[in-house]
Amino acid sequence: MADVTPFWLAGERARGSSTFEVRHPYDGAVVATVAEPEADQVERAVAAAVEVAPRLSGLPAHVRASALAHVSKEIARRGDELARLITAESGKPLTWARAEVARASSTFRWGAEEARRFAGELTRLDTDPTGDGRLALTRRFPRGPVLGITPFNFPLNLVAHKVAPALAIGAPIIVKPAPRTPLSALFLGDLLAGTDLPEGSWSVLTVPNDRVGGLVADPRLPVVSFTGSGPVGWSIRDAVPRKHVVLELGGNGAVLVAPDFHAPGDLARAAGRIALFANYQAGQSCIAVQRVYADHGLYGELLGEIVTAVRALRDGDPTDPATDVGPLVDVAAAERVEQWIGEAVAAGATLVCGGTRTGASLAPTVLTGVPDAARVVREEVFGPVIVVESVDGLDEGLARINDSAFGLQAGVFTHDLGTAFRAHRELVVGGVVVGDVPSYRADQMPYGGTKGSGIGREGVRSAMTDLSEERVLVLTGLDL
Ligand code: SIN
Repeated sequence: MADVTPFWLAGERARGSSTFEVRHPYDGAVVATVAEPEADQVERAVAAAVEVAPRLSGLPAHVRASALAHVSKEIARRGDELARLITAESGKPLTWARAEVARASSTFRWGAEEARRFAGELTRLDTDPTGDGRLALTRRFPRGPVLGITPFNFPLNLVAHKVAPALAIGAPIIVKPAPRTPLSALFLGDLLAGTDLPEGSWSVLTVPNDRVGGLVADPRLPVVSFTGSGPVGWSIRDAVPRKHVVLELGGNGAVLVAPDFHAPGDLARAAGRIALFANYQAGQSCIAVQRVYADHGLYGELLGEIVTAVRALRDGDPTDPATDVGPLVDVAAAERVEQWIGEAVAAGATLVCGGTRTGASLAPTVLTGVPDAARVVREEVFGPVIVVESVDGLDEGLARINDSAFGLQAGVFTHDLGTAFRAHRELVVGGVVVGDVPSYRADQMPYGGTKGSGIGREGVRSAMTDLSEERVLVLTGLDL
């Protein structure tokens, strides 16, 4: 068992009697053999989280902040090792893996900073004679131990987005990483083990998906924070309606190129951003560009620029620092996307470029004239596919973006402040990015969706609010 990667049970390395393999999506090579927890080990992790909860919540802010700052620095110090691990387990090109490492370091740094800032609010009560000499202090306290279930597409930073806010507010957390990509989360365990957080504050349990139901249902874990697919997320919410459930689900990210966006160089720049962020991580991001709506006066030129930019992307081996587009997470995922492209073409869409598959790798694909009912429009593709369509002005462009079961983020290329504010007001999404693609995310900003894209917000401060609840302290008899 020497070369079996252990999981983390209440801050200690542990192994069970079974293991599973993690394979490199690009060539199928075994990257690691990982230990799987037994039922009694899961039970011990939950019991430890429950036991430590009051102590963790009562720790001085500087203790929690120092632990998070330590993790942030260690992520940066061991960044190269971590980036290679992310690439090996997820197939994400090294260049994007490095970007993810830098973001994860920043997510923990923000956790440390916000832990120091998270305070309370005073409310005057002497606004009425019945409140003379009274004052209310409202502070937020953890809702309880958190179960964080994380996806494969950002195996480090989306784990950071569960762990940092939970520990920042003093809530114990049990992380259940994606079985395809548990290694970055387990590496994070090494870094957390270097802090002096009390035993039980965190565990990383490599529980298989078909056993996670027990953890979800466990009443001792009143908060479930899930990032992943819609069907799984909503089934969690339905299974535990009395729990506080945070869902960060998918999207079919859209861009509007507004009629005013035609200064010299505008379309080439927009096209470059669209091409890159439709294909980064082979499109496996919830905010990847999937749908592009361009005003009819700009559509032809924009489409040409997008195709040029897409063709300039280098696909291939994700360990090559020059590679822009690597494989999808596995062959089945690539086959599914290939099938959706085929369906769209059979229904009348024009395949402008791409569409071919080799193993888990799919050539960056541009489609146009796609019937609205096609899955490459309606569903979350999670693959390197862009649908580019012409629209008649802002009204139609905004309406087409909103004509979606999802509402995560949208991008609007415009120079006009009025258009920016209108888009912010009218687009039913969690975030509007002006002058760029919807794929922009800074880790400290509120992030999350509406409609089918989920409930609740991440972004360190927002998640801290979401994982905690208000408790009022009324002081009486004061000489105010
Ligand atoms: C996601 O895919 O939901 C996360 C995107 C990001 O963090 O950039």
